[in-house]
Amino acid sequence: MTVKAVYPGTFDPITNGHLDIITRGLRLFDEILVAILGNPEKEPLFPVGERIDILKAAVGGLPNVRVESFDGLLIDYARRRGAQVIVRGLRALSDFEYEFQMALMNQRLAPDIHTVFMMPSEAYVYVSSRLVKEVVRLGGDVTGLVPPEAVARLKARYAGTK
Ligand code: PNS
Repeated sequence: MTVKAVYPGTFDPITNGHLDIITRGLRLFDEILVAILGNPEKEPLFPVGERIDILKAAVGGLPNVRVESFDGLLIDYARRRGAQVIVRGLRALSDFEYEFQMALMNQRLAPDIHTVFMMPSEAYVYVSSRLVKEVVRLGGDVTGLVPPEAVARLKARYAGTK
């Protein structure tokens, strides 16, 4: 049986923590579909087209990884794509409540689709898209915490705003 997993998120932008989850996921699943939420309530810094470009540059060398955007319910998207698994990264206890609620809601809506939580390398436990944006906005360097394409786009986005 081929196991296809959806790895959903806002990815505004992708971090090396996300990338680490994708790499680990490839050891468990035959295919990973990275699914970028198109219109989240969070008002992302990067439009969805740019988030896709950054993600594609980051996962370009990885086999069996596809990048797409989606809108609407995640489980509807997962069903349309024939995915049996939703992958989410868990960094710390603070992630747990939100993730637990989402996983149980998705389980209620789609009992046949299973959420699998994966831990990133400890090197990335403190890394989040939100903190990375704040650091760059205030003039700090995030090299090594996000893929090179994201570093360049973040710098361009915040150039001249300090
Ligand atoms: O990276 P994020 O912002 O934590 O990702 C959140 C995401 C995209 C996984 C979540 O908001 C989502 O699945 N949205 C799609 C709408 C949906 O299905 N809502 C019900 C989830 S229980």
